[in-house]
Amino acid sequence: MTETPSPARRRWDPIVRITHWSIALAVLANALVTEEGSGPHIWVGYGLAAILGLRLLWGLVGPAEARFSAFWPSPHKALSHLRDIRAGRKEHHSSHNPLGALMVYAIWGCLLTIIGTGIAMAGPPPWDGSEREAEHRTIATATQGEDAEGEEEGGEAGEAEEGPLGEIHETAANLLYLLILLHIGGVIFETRRSGKQVLMAMAPLGR
Ligand code: HEM
Ligand code: HEM
Repeated sequence: MTETPSPARRRWDPIVRITHWSIALAVLANALVTEEGSGPHIWVGYGLAAILGLRLLWGLVGPAEARFSAFWPSPHKALSHLRDIRAGRKEHHSSHNPLGALMVYAIWGCLLTIIGTGIAMAGPPPWDGSEREAEHRTIATATQGEDAEGEEEGGEAGEAEEGPLGEIHETAANLLYLLILLHIGGVIFETRRSGKQVLMAMAPLGR
């Protein structure tokens, strides 16, 4: 197959670019800055949910290259894209390339799992974190073995309420960190292979 000339890629539309960098910021904030389960963690989490909701809506009504139909997940296409890479062929893709598309859906799947479990654990407002801190103190004391009977009850109640959800939340977050590393590795690889326009198309500023 002949090499397809790669026309200069246009920028992603502003909604894709703004939601991309806001999602990245929110993930970084909750992974590195906010205290797990605290008020700010939950507020950032709801912000993340709203931004992701906007991007998913955009996948239905946005411009052609931002729609799900432009980068439907396909292991078959991903394998053929891998073959193109191995053969040194550079195909032009107007949306995410087929490998990138799989990564996008994997990241979104993780985010939705984190958001779903997070909202289920956070419960109704207010989310100032004070109740959760009290619960954690009770659980911590109960598991240290110096527990009074009342604290043991509190510990059991707390764990029963958030045990499996917390586990899923944390596992999905860890998986997300791994995917993000692979994603950034993929972007660097694709930038070296096909040129800087891959990265520039997602640049937050400029036309
Ligand atoms: C990608 C963004 C997020 C990351 C990286 C993240 C990460 C984490 C981690 C590592 C924990 C500790 C889990 C444990 O030890 O059980 C945690 C706890 C928690 N997160 Fe998130 N989280 C995110 C988004 C959210 C969202 C969207 C919400 C809700 C709107 C949320 C609500 C909570 C709550 C309530 C806890 C406390 C669980 C407990 O009390 O054990 N998080 N988060
Ligand atoms: C927390 C960190 C990050 C997350 C969660 C993340 C997530 C995503 C997602 C979901 C997409 C698909 C965009 C869409 O269609 O809406 C995407 C695309 C993209 N991301 Fe990230 N990203 C992160 C960090 C980064 C960083 C640091 C870079 C730059 C080195 C980057 C560069 C890109 C590029 C260039 C694309 C478009 C790839 C293509 O043309 O197919 N991302 N990212």
